[in-house]
Amino acid sequence: MSSFLIAPSILSADFARLGDDVANVLAAGADVVHFDVMDNHFVPNLTFGPMICQSLRDYGITAPIDVHLMVKQVDSLIPGFARAGADIITFHPEASDHIDRTLQLIKDHGCKAGLVLNPATPLHCLDFVMDKLDVILLMSVNPGFGGQSFIPTTLDKLRLVKERIIASGRDIRLQVDGGVKADNIAEIAAAGADMFVAGSAIFSKPDYKLAIDEMRSELAK
Ligand code: DX5
Ligand code: ZN
Repeated sequence: MSSFLIAPSILSADFARLGDDVANVLAAGADVVHFDVMDNHFVPNLTFGPMICQSLRDYGITAPIDVHLMVKQVDSLIPGFARAGADIITFHPEASDHIDRTLQLIKDHGCKAGLVLNPATPLHCLDFVMDKLDVILLMSVNPGFGGQSFIPTTLDKLRLVKERIIASGRDIRLQVDGGVKADNIAEIAAAGADMFVAGSAIFSKPDYKLAIDEMRSELAK
């Protein structure tokens, strides 16, 4: 795996042929499957749960699955996702009553754990849990939908979080999600991100390999 990870969000995939679409995007060079779980409660949209994650594993998808929980009852879903083959589970601090406990629950189930910060969520929720984080995901749109525009203030936030990660001395992935495209990915990487979620920028293109190659060549500049 390269140090920059491309994680297509299957929110923009073709749900009627999900297994094939995920297999195709991985064959096109994606590193990780980003799996957006929405409950129509924490966010105003509804997607899929552990059964679909299990279906992808049963279909033969072996790549890491990165589950982004946008749900209000976080803890009750964690065992099911771990059993269904999730590798990374991230959640929003606003959705957990006990953030440290939820992070520990994810780790106890053998998955990597992360917090997701909405565009207006302050950074102080990272205090005192850095030792439990494998991933920090900064939302660069308000969560709930694909195809929105990147919020530029995320760049400053990325720089601040990157400083915190360096100060922690820990190997924590810095992920960004929302409005990531070939024409802004280099700037996002320069601000500190090393894991890039992209939905519409990949799945709306007829040639996934071309879309991913274009992102990688921007990252290599
Ligand atoms: C939004 C999701 C994202 C979304 C990204 O709530 O978390 O993963 O699918 O989609 P694009 O890349 O189209 O902004
Ligand atoms: Zn997401």
